[in-house]
Amino acid sequence: MRPTLRVTRALLTNYGTMMAGRGLILSGMLPLLRLLLLAVINNSVHKDYDLSSPLVSKYDFIVVGGGTAGCVVAARLSEVGDWKVLVVEAGQPPPPETYVPALLPMSFLPNSPALWHYRSTPQKHGLKNYVNQEAAMMQGRAVGGGSAVNGYIYNRSNRRDYDRWAAMGNQGWDSASILPYFLKAENYSGPLMSSTEKYYGRSGPLGVIPGLSGSLQQAFIQGGRELGYPSNDPNGPEQIGFPTHGLFTVRDGVRSSTSEAYLRPASSRPNLHILHSATVLQVVFDNNKRAAGVKLEYKGKVMTIGARKEVVLSAGAIRSPHLLLVSGVGPQDHLQHHKVTMVADVPGVGQNLHDHVSVNGLSWTTRKGLSSSTIIRSASPSSLKQYIANRSGPMAAPSENMHNAWVKVRPDGDPLWPDTQIIITPISLAYDNGFVSPAVFGLDDQKFRNYLHEIYGRDGFSMTPILVHPKSRGSITLKSSDPTYLPIINPNYLSHPDDINTLVNGIKLILALGNTSAFVNDFQAKFFDKPLPECAGEASNSNAYWACYVTHMATTYVHVAGTCKMAPPSDPLGVVDTHLRVRGVSGLRVVDASIMPSSVSGNTNGPTIMIAEKAADVIKEDWNLAANFLFFHCCKA
Ligand SMILES: Cc1cc2nc3c(=O)[nH]c(=O)nc-3n(C[C@H](O)[C@H](O)[C@H](O)COP(=O)(O)OP(=O)(O)OC[C@H]3O[C@@H](n4cnc5c(N)ncnc54)[C@H](O)[C@@H]3O)c2cc1C
Ligand SMILES: *[C@@H]1O[C@H](CO)[C@@H](O)[C@H](O)[C@H]1NC(C)=O
Ligand SMILES: *[C@@H]1O[C@H](CO)[C@@H](O)[C@H](O)[C@H]1NC(C)=O
Ligand SMILES: *[C@@H]1O[C@H](CO)[C@@H](O)[C@H](O)[C@H]1NC(C)=O
Ligand SMILES: *[C@@H]1O[C@H](CO)[C@@H](O)[C@H](O)[C@H]1NC(C)=O
Repeated sequence: MRPTLRVTRALLTNYGTMMAGRGLILSGMLPLLRLLLLAVINNSVHKDYDLSSPLVSKYDFIVVGGGTAGCVVAARLSEVGDWKVLVVEAGQPPPPETYVPALLPMSFLPNSPALWHYRSTPQKHGLKNYVNQEAAMMQGRAVGGGSAVNGYIYNRSNRRDYDRWAAMGNQGWDSASILPYFLKAENYSGPLMSSTEKYYGRSGPLGVIPGLSGSLQQAFIQGGRELGYPSNDPNGPEQIGFPTHGLFTVRDGVRSSTSEAYLRPASSRPNLHILHSATVLQVVFDNNKRAAGVKLEYKGKVMTIGARKEVVLSAGAIRSPHLLLVSGVGPQDHLQHHKVTMVADVPGVGQNLHDHVSVNGLSWTTRKGLSSSTIIRSASPSSLKQYIANRSGPMAAPSENMHNAWVKVRPDGDPLWPDTQIIITPISLAYDNGFVSPAVFGLDDQKFRNYLHEIYGRDGFSMTPILVHPKSRGSITLKSSDPTYLPIINPNYLSHPDDINTLVNGIKLILALGNTSAFVNDFQAKFFDKPLPECAGEASNSNAYWACYVTHMATTYVHVAGTCKMAPPSDPLGVVDTHLRVRGVSGLRVVDASIMPSSVSGNTNGPTIMIAEKAADVIKEDWNLAANFLFFHCCKA
């Protein structure tokens, strides 16, 4: 055993032992690690923001939530020097480990302070191997929100996703109209091909890099080819298949969250006030149903801050609808039931929740060294040295062997519009001996162990099918009119039978993929085919077995969206119009993942940034700003 391997194993075991008393890691190892990391990452990041300007009683715009969308909106609105902008974020600046790409899994620790650890209601139609059948729906709780803690994956999704939004009556949101906003955001630094160059933005604030390429990733792409799938430029005009490379939100070796890309560069503007560690409790309306400000809690004090022009809700797909409900904007019956004074009857608030659903647990064992070498490469002294010296190397990008593909497994519909995403990771869920994985996903420890203990600590990989266009819809509703209570989150996962069938088809495709010569010959990959104990009664490999597997092992992929649906007036479930203005009131918009009327085919951070870029432009247009402030004028010609 090479010394580094021994060291890494010892570290892992240690880590595991600490996690056994989950929570101990936070009080024990993390503070030390953070000190180390602070020294490693450049001083230019992870500083607090300039909070010296005193909070005043009125701003032109108040942005509620400094997450993925909120940081973009606040930065773009504060470009207008005459506008005083306040952004209020409940979380703090994110901890240093969230900046280092190779430390990605540390962002998801079960008691990270940079996350909201939401739980869904017990799910009737699935999640049977999860504690109380509840989904562990973590969301970012930090300046930068989801973009500060997520898996770094950058994806614009399929053009058909946006053309569907437009076909639903949302003029101006078709793929051709929104592409300029993606390009405006991106600063892609990687090689380009002349045929697809026009699909990459190079001068925006958001750092986007191509991923590293490892041998497992190559096998994945090769396996896809064996099954007849093309390998394309992932940003090209047609994308279905196994992309040649992934894209990640990283710049100069550190995470490019919207807080780093947008908010920090804007933070010295005298007209922008960043208030973190403050929670908005309610939107305050005047007698004309205009959003006149917000009530917030900061350092134990409750105060009201006025908005001369508008309040923008960017609190994410769980909290934006919740804030509307506690402020009196929602379904009349529901508000009455909770004795909330109604401001506007908007039945769609909190409805139309959609989320991507992934099936955990499908594992392959491989020849020795696959998983351990991945860990070693990203944790070795030489990688660390390279990272410190040049902020490059294996620590400067997410794992070289994590990769995604998009396929179509249902026979109906447009063959170029994917219904399933597949993610491969060079470590199976069982690799950490059950110390952390079950807690991260909310899986029942005992059931996890019963199923996977034979491959605890074994080298291998996972492939996970993700349902990207679920037909099930869920909701956010009030538990109480008291804004300090969390809402009831019921995503209704797998309530539509087609969702289970699509995932079963996805599993079958993945099994075939794992059985291609690329995996079998090069990695001695062997599917861990022990039946899930809870489904052992079904015939091996039958549709019924895999459907059972799905209802036990599928859960959220934390791409929650849709709860403040953008729609034309004819849609009874619409909450905002195409300018993202909330129905029935004035001076109030929602700008975040909540407005997505239907699901997108890829990861949701990029699309949310696009939504915020476009929203900022629309707001400037609505306030009749001179054309030089407006992006789309510059680019129309
Ligand atoms: C663990 C995880 C991994 C993910 N991985 C990826 C990935 O790799 N790629 C990808 O594209 N997408 C990924 N996503 C999804 C993506 O990050 C989200 O869809 C996106 O961040 C949503 O942006 P948003 O602006 O709608 O909400 P958020 O980014 O969640 O922002 C909402 C903000 O509002 C704050 N807030 C909430 N309530 C209040 C209040 N009352 N007062 C003040 N502030 C409040 C929150 O703290 C939060 O910071 C991931 C998500 C998670 C949680
Ligand atoms: C983004 O998602 C699409 C599906 O919408 C996929 O075809 C494409 O390859 C993905 N791109 C990247 C960079 O992963
Ligand atoms: C884009 O990123 C590169 C690499 O980090 C950097 O050198 C360049 O200045 C960035 N461009 C812009 C416009 O920010
Ligand atoms: C950092 O980069 C320089 C220039 O490319 C190179 O000479 C040096 O060896 C690198 N340092 C490390 C520790 O990798
Ligand atoms: C894998 O492929 C071999 C031959 O190519 C076949 O015999 C076997 O049944 C396949 N296994 C699975 C799980 O598909």
